[in-house]
Amino acid sequence: MAKKTKKLMKKGKRLDGRKPDEMRPIKIKAGYVKRADGSAYIEWGGNKVVASVHGPRTCYPRHERSPYKARIQFKYKLAPFSVDDRANPAPSRRDKEISKVSSEALEKAVFTEYYPKTTIDIYATVIEAAAGTRVAALSAASVALADAGIPMRDLVPACATGKIEDTVVLDLNKDEDQEGQADLPVAYLPHNDEITLMQMDGDLTPEEYEEALDLAVDGCMKVYEEQKRALRERYEHIEQEKEEE
Ligand code: CDP
Repeated sequence: MAKKTKKLMKKGKRLDGRKPDEMRPIKIKAGYVKRADGSAYIEWGGNKVVASVHGPRTCYPRHERSPYKARIQFKYKLAPFSVDDRANPAPSRRDKEISKVSSEALEKAVFTEYYPKTTIDIYATVIEAAAGTRVAALSAASVALADAGIPMRDLVPACATGKIEDTVVLDLNKDEDQEGQADLPVAYLPHNDEITLMQMDGDLTPEEYEEALDLAVDGCMKVYEEQKRALRERYEHIEQEKEEE
């Protein structure tokens, strides 16, 4: 991450007009992919991500099967056309890293012990990227899990904070991510008051870290409201369709 090379704030506001603690617009739709057990679509700032859930189904290969719990396999993919420089369609180190930490972040929420010997596959495909894709993918994936009817302790909202021009800010945009001083993506399990994912790029003082973490949890709670709204909307729709039949 570059060190303060570009002007990112003007008169206390960010260049896109947001206040430091303001999030980009977010909209989630639950139930988006026909051939999935559960799915969701998220638009967040300039990010667009489709998440789909398949399973629980018998886990293959056998050696990856657990007699005690379901395997959560999250597959994050940046589509080649989602970024300015075409992304390589082969899985990159970054795709693998995001997939691994996201699987672990969601595993904390799912009652995996209900489904021994199975796998729950989650595909998160980024079709447009503008910083914060991992938190957008995770936020959509947990809605897709709920849409699939998979028992969970709670949804897992995720949100990033960071530092630009020595100011802690919520939900970095692309310029802020590239030119800012730090980036702190966080996923949060409200039911347990537990952080299930935290990564950091750049430098924060201990005080800034505390501030950024608190702000990230506040951001997660805003995402949580949108996740619940999307699920309510989905089920109102299903009820309506049933009545019309
Ligand atoms: O997307 P997120 O912030 O979770 O992850 P990142 O690795 O910090 O990437 C930040 C942003 O860089 C992405 O959201 C994309 O907009 C961009 N990027 C890109 O243009 N090309 C890549 N191969 C990877 C990321």
